[in-house]
Amino acid sequence: MERSLVLIKPDGVQRGLVGEIIKRLEQRGLKLVAAKFMWVSDQLAQTHYAVHFGKPFYNGLINYICSAPVMAMVWEGQDAIAAIRQTMGATNPTVAAPGTIRHDFAIISSRNLTHASDSVENSEKEIALWFKPEELVTWSKIDEEWLFKSNN
Ligand code: CMP
Repeated sequence: MERSLVLIKPDGVQRGLVGEIIKRLEQRGLKLVAAKFMWVSDQLAQTHYAVHFGKPFYNGLINYICSAPVMAMVWEGQDAIAAIRQTMGATNPTVAAPGTIRHDFAIISSRNLTHASDSVENSEKEIALWFKPEELVTWSKIDEEWLFKSNN
């Protein structure tokens, strides 16, 4: 099973979309394993977005992620990284496919509601950055067999 960090960013929180975004991840069959509602420190923002340092939107991105609380979560499932990124849609909401969160609720890249890990390697780094190991909850979800069990 893969895990992904998912952030509902300040615009998602301020616009009252926390429940809608969680609902879509639950509907997809993913399992919530950690969650916390929090302000993001400048240091955490800079570490999380270090790969974007020097880009024209970097300073604005740091200010944006620190501008209001975020909902930080870890979601788990088979192929969770690809599934979650598909559910979120493309970074630029005007390119995101209809039915995705970014298509349905956003217009511009700098207010694109969510962040999700883009690879297994980055998910491990991001989860370790945002959560302590003891904050990750181990549990069984009763529909897992119906979602992921192979017929072979
Ligand atoms: P996220 O998935 O959190 O990863 C980096 C973020 O930078 C991205 O979502 C957007 O919020 C933001 N971003 C990416 N490209 C642009 C852009 N061209 N202009 C402004 N913000 C951007």
